[in-house]
Order: sequence, then C-alpha cells, then structure tokens
Amino acid sequence: MCSRRLEATSWRSTVSTLSYLTWDQLNVSPFNVVAWHGNYTPYKYNLENFMVINAVAYDHADPSIFTVLTAKSLRPGVAIADFVIFPPRWGVADKTFRPPYYHRNCMSEFMGLIKGHYEAKEGGFLPGGGSLHSTMTPHGPDAECFEKASKAKLVPERIADGTMAFMFESSLSMAVTKWGLKTSHCLDDNYYKCWEPLKSHFTPNSRSPAGPK
Ligand SMILES: [Fe+2]
Repeated sequence: MCSRRLEATSWRSTVSTLSYLTWDQLNVSPFNVVAWHGNYTPYKYNLENFMVINAVAYDHADPSIFTVLTAKSLRPGVAIADFVIFPPRWGVADKTFRPPYYHRNCMSEFMGLIKGHYEAKEGGFLPGGGSLHSTMTPHGPDAECFEKASKAKLVPERIADGTMAFMFESSLSMAVTKWGLKTSHCLDDNYYKCWEPLKSHFTPNSRSPAGPK
C-alpha cells in the first residue's frame, strides 16, 4: 500500500479546521518520511483485534466500555474525544433491554458504520453512513429494534457478527460543514421518522422486570 502511494505523482492534502476544509496539491507523498516529530503519528490498528468488555449480569453498560482510544480533558472522566467501536461479541445480559437505551447526555456522538448492520438501526444506517447526535439531543434505537428487543428471549446470542460500527464521542460540540448539509446531497431528511412508530407501553401497575431486590 505504501509503495503504491509513493508511485503516484500527485497527492491532495485536505485539512479540516474549525469546520472549514482547505486543500493543497502536493507532488510528494506526505507519508514519504523517515521519521515523524510531533504529537500526531500515523497509526494503523486492526479493529478486529480489539478485546471487547461487556455486561455479563444485567443492564446495558455505557458505551465507554468499548473505548479504543481516548483524549483526556482537564476534567477527570470527561474526554475531549473517545474513539469507540461496537465489534462482534456475545450478548448475555439478563432481565434487560439489551440494545442502547433512550438517552441524552453532555457528549456529542458521531457514529459511523464501516460494514454490516448496526444493531440499533438495522434499516436506514448503511456502511459509509454516519449520524450525529449533538450535546443533549435525545436518541436511541429505532422502533423496529425496540419492539424486537422488548420481546426477545434473553438467551446468550451473538451480536454484530460481520459488523463494525464506531463512534467519536466528544465533550465539545461538532459543526457540520456546508458540504455535509447541502452540497453532498447525502443528508437523510427523514432520519427522525425511525422513531415515529414507537408506541407507549407504559403500564403504571406492572412489576419491575428485574423483580424485587
Ligand atoms: Fe448515545
């Protein structure tokens, strides 16, 4: 791969700064170096090698358990950015709604799918696609996933085989470029409709599924 890059005669270097993209044409490869000095180092890591930690009793654990890389902020426990993946694994949690639950929080979440089907949105989230839920924006599984997981028998099952989804989670806000919103013509204007069929199942007198503690 490296040699093929070096054989090319023209490279385009694109830089993203404060939601603006600028680029330059180079006649040498930016990777044609014998050493790298500074804070940024090109690094290649096979995500399939990431050893997953998961809930083995009950409840859906926070996605931070899937953190591959983190950039700490000065506030303990609040990252500038976490890079998180959702690789193939076993689901064994009992007395639990296993997919991600409905939530909002102080973090901005940019999710993407590299391959396969993301468990919480099997329909409209295709490989190469991404979603952004900014700070304090409520979100969660689509209606189909909710119904399926609410009725599922909680036996041990494989999750996400053949799939690789990732998330950048940040305590900072993310801006979307004009290219992303307009020029690309890739914005899904109907994204919110995946939640419209959700029905209320609230039954005030029912017992807690977890039973008395
Ligand atoms: Fe989230």
